[in-house]
Amino acid sequence: MTIRPIVVAANRLPVTRTPAGWNPSPGGLVRAMLPLLRASGGTWVGWTGIADDDIGPFEHDGVKLQPVSVSAAEVQDYYEGFANDTLWPLYHDALRESTYSVRHWDAYVAVNQRFADHLAELAPSDAVVWVHDYHLQLVPQMLRRRRDDVLIGFFFHIPFPPVELFMRLPWRTEIAAGLAGCDLVGFQRSINAANFTSVCEELLGRTTRCGAYPISIDVAELEAIAAGRDTRQRSNRYRTRLGEPEVVLLGVDRLDYTKGISQRLRAYQSLLDDGTLDAERCVMVQVATPTREGVEHYQNERKEIEQLVGEINGVHSRLGHPALHYLYQSLALEELVALYRTGDVMIVTPLRDGMNLVAKEYVTTRLDGDGVLVLSEFAGAADELLDAVLVNPHDPAALRTAIVTGVEMHRHERRARMASLREVVRASDVQGWAERFLAELTG
Ligand code: F6P
Repeated sequence: MTIRPIVVAANRLPVTRTPAGWNPSPGGLVRAMLPLLRASGGTWVGWTGIADDDIGPFEHDGVKLQPVSVSAAEVQDYYEGFANDTLWPLYHDALRESTYSVRHWDAYVAVNQRFADHLAELAPSDAVVWVHDYHLQLVPQMLRRRRDDVLIGFFFHIPFPPVELFMRLPWRTEIAAGLAGCDLVGFQRSINAANFTSVCEELLGRTTRCGAYPISIDVAELEAIAAGRDTRQRSNRYRTRLGEPEVVLLGVDRLDYTKGISQRLRAYQSLLDDGTLDAERCVMVQVATPTREGVEHYQNERKEIEQLVGEINGVHSRLGHPALHYLYQSLALEELVALYRTGDVMIVTPLRDGMNLVAKEYVTTRLDGDGVLVLSEFAGAADELLDAVLVNPHDPAALRTAIVTGVEMHRHERRARMASLREVVRASDVQGWAERFLAELTG
């Protein structure tokens, strides 16, 4: 592992401000990076998640934090606008129409410059600066202009699109040049690295060092939570509250149109409608964590999901026994792990996803060696979790078949597949991921 000081830059700090104090931020990125930062004594540069929150550096849970202030207008233009209404849909197979607005772009440039300025000022000499994700693609070039001594790495947690889609961006050359300021660009899948190489060749006439470094989870932390007596008791309580069904189907996602939640619910609905699944014997739990609520595509997706929940429960519930339990809530990690242990068939079916850590969390917490993972071919995790029931979630018939396969799978096969899935995740956890990326960057 590198002995150079490490500085991390990401859109969000690993904590958010609440009336009760600082809480860990949701999302895989935070859970992936915190253990590394704690161990290396590094600094994390990011936004607090609150508009116009103008505070100085502080320390939290052994990690130094440097807040970057983002104004209310920038939240709309940089975060909701350019990051999540231009880049996010485009980088996820253009599943929704992107907006292209000069005002959003200008805010993106200004916020990226602010991050780069903080980094240029606080990075110790010869530091390794590790920039994360699509919000900050201009930072490497901006930082390189001011600091020649630092090594700059970048990791994309989301997919990188094929060149035909990337070329739609009015600011495609600026973004490619921004990333080309890096010493190494990491992606979840090798196809993403190949796409990036084509983009660099096409727009810059040269390539940038890059490769695939699939991210993982903190296996030890999750296994410890899963093994706890509290978790087992909580999971038993959940099963009782669900009415002791034979099969619990489970979905856990941010409420994002890329996650394929409505397609999944429609598949469940059609299996109930034609009697393939019986609501007396099985129940579904769908957790949808609130996210990016200011963006219209997300508001529309929420309406669609909630209408489907109403339709499914209206037709298939019995008094006191909903066919579908829908939680539009952020759950604590302990609650999530108990839920994973309750879910007999975990359905992770994004239409496109960088990695999907929920899939890896589920198999890691199944210390009992049971449970079925139904997994989209369009999630990065599908490159590694080959013993999941792999499915194309764009195909309604295939989704139905995959769910039924999960429900009907024999115990022997379930256990054999789960053993192999657990082995894959245990062999490459988040510490290994960070070490691999940093070794490649500094080597
Ligand atoms: O997976 C992509 C990502 O943007 C992560 O970086 C982040 O932790 C998560 O989605 C949540 O998104 P947001 O920061 O927009 O709430």
